[in-house]
Amino acid sequence: MNRKQLVVGNWKMNGSLSDNEALLVGLSAADDLSGLDVSVCVPYLYLAQTREHLAAGNISWGGQNVSEHDAGAYTGEISGSMLADFEVSFGLVGHSERRSFYAETNELVGIKARKLLSVGITPIVCVGETLKQREAEETFGIISAQLEAVIEQIGLENLGRLVLAYEPVWAIGTGLTASPEQAQEVHEYLREQVALLDEAAASSLRILYGGSVKPDNAEKLFRQADVDGGLIGGASLNLIDFLTICRLAI
Ligand code: PGA
Repeated sequence: MNRKQLVVGNWKMNGSLSDNEALLVGLSAADDLSGLDVSVCVPYLYLAQTREHLAAGNISWGGQNVSEHDAGAYTGEISGSMLADFEVSFGLVGHSERRSFYAETNELVGIKARKLLSVGITPIVCVGETLKQREAEETFGIISAQLEAVIEQIGLENLGRLVLAYEPVWAIGTGLTASPEQAQEVHEYLREQVALLDEAAASSLRILYGGSVKPDNAEKLFRQADVDGGLIGGASLNLIDFLTICRLAI
């Protein structure tokens, strides 16, 4: 199965109208990314600015979170339909920063994935283990539980509509990267888990790797059989680095 690679920038809580301008102008001018899907997940407030710059091109945009509710008295929250209003293609759910700083449970992540699907947005479901869990050889158990909770919410019939991102918590923003072999081992495991439930979904499923992906380590990661692209944090804030990483995925 030849899966089209996907590279997603995760700006996290970074940016300003003026900083974004340069980044977005640069991204929209990149005309050598065909054969690859590229997206940027920006802070909510900048979705309008991002859409304005990217709408005419091939790079899509996404949100970094979504409310588990549809509407109403949830001060400070943003719903799936609000994201859909800004034509986002993707929404991150289950990022380890949300899980650890905002106590998001596996079940909540599943509900958020379901809310995104209900408005036609593709959830990028992040899974990953901490260093302690890896050392205790709990990696597979942890990511299976994270995945199962999502499947329980969205239903087997929607498995083929997900993107997964394996992000070992110990590699996010730390400069430590999973080796290509470590990444491949987990990606293969994830695909096998999905294949047990739906073979067609497993073969088309895109599993991104995230965690300190940089221009100098991206190529080997992207060459692994079950790595279908990357979720790029820090390096997505630098236009040259991000475009270099994108090109290494083609
Ligand atoms: P990083 O972040 O590339 O800065 O490690 C990845 C992510 O958190 O999505």
